Amino acid sequence: MFPLQRGRRLRTNESIRSLVRETTLSPSDFMFPMFVAEGENVEVAIPSMPGIFRRSLDLTIKEVKELYDLGIRAVNIYVKVSENLKDNTGKEAWNSDGLMQNTIRAIKKACPEMIVMPDVALDPYSVYGHDGIIANGDVENESTNDALVKMAVSHAQAGADFVAPSDMMDGRVLRLRQGLDAAGFYNVGIMSYSAKYASAFYGPFRDALDSAPRESDVVVPKDKKTYQMDYANRIEAIKEAIWDVEEGADMVMVKPGIAYLDIVREVKNAVNVPVTVYHVSGEYAMIKAAAEKGWLDNDAIMMEQLMCIKRAGASLISTYFAKEAAILLNQK
Ligand code: PBG
Repeated sequence: MFPLQRGRRLRTNESIRSLVRETTLSPSDFMFPMFVAEGENVEVAIPSMPGIFRRSLDLTIKEVKELYDLGIRAVNIYVKVSENLKDNTGKEAWNSDGLMQNTIRAIKKACPEMIVMPDVALDPYSVYGHDGIIANGDVENESTNDALVKMAVSHAQAGADFVAPSDMMDGRVLRLRQGLDAAGFYNVGIMSYSAKYASAFYGPFRDALDSAPRESDVVVPKDKKTYQMDYANRIEAIKEAIWDVEEGADMVMVKPGIAYLDIVREVKNAVNVPVTVYHVSGEYAMIKAAAEKGWLDNDAIMMEQLMCIKRAGASLISTYFAKEAAILLNQK
């Protein structure tokens, strides 16, 4: 009680503050999401994500080595496939010679220590821009799971360390675990997007991959609300995370980040596996836009948000700021 207790004593100077700091950040806390495209020497800027590019494999490899040298130890891979490879079965997703599979192989060859986590969902391969197979006006759960198993096994065959299902189908973690084990991939892990909300914060990502749900001649849902979660809900996130751990997930994820940190903490308290947080494209875009206008300090806001995500309970943060933040941390 005051005056015996004075909170300011522990804030007197940076040395004292550093002694009592409860959370720290290091480059190995980050995963970097990468967009890969066909071609050679291709680097396309994504307008809604300043500083982020869609790159061909050769330039992706160069970037991966730089990330590794900065202390980053994991990358999430998303591919942009050409329109003529898209259909309603997603079959390009398990083409052993597909862009994703070639990317995984090339990264593991060039930088074997980098943990590679390919995205498992059909949206980049779907003519309708949905994460699964469309039937009767909705994404069909079981046939989508069958496709996801083939996709994940093909990623494992290419050398993926983890697979990262982001589709929100029911039971897919169990199906993936069984499928990977049956193919002999016991040590390929599953990082499940367990609590993935139907969020408008994914807008810039869908620009990057041209993967937003589209109008079409058949009836398809106009958004992803029949599989991604309602952002009004909390209990549902805990339930989904617990199910995923029971089904064999090695890590769970909460997505998006900053507006969902209450969920991060609750999930952290509810499960006994590492919780990852996806600081998504729209969150990145908001900071970049405000910084461009001179309204916010990019570096300060970036570090504050990343630290707060970690404080909320994240073991790992998937963020487009990974490289920038690692450079800043390494300067200290
Ligand atoms: C697709 C997927 C999305 C993101 C990651 N995987 C988009 C979506 O669900 O529509 C979003 C990531 C971001 O916004 O940074 N399965």
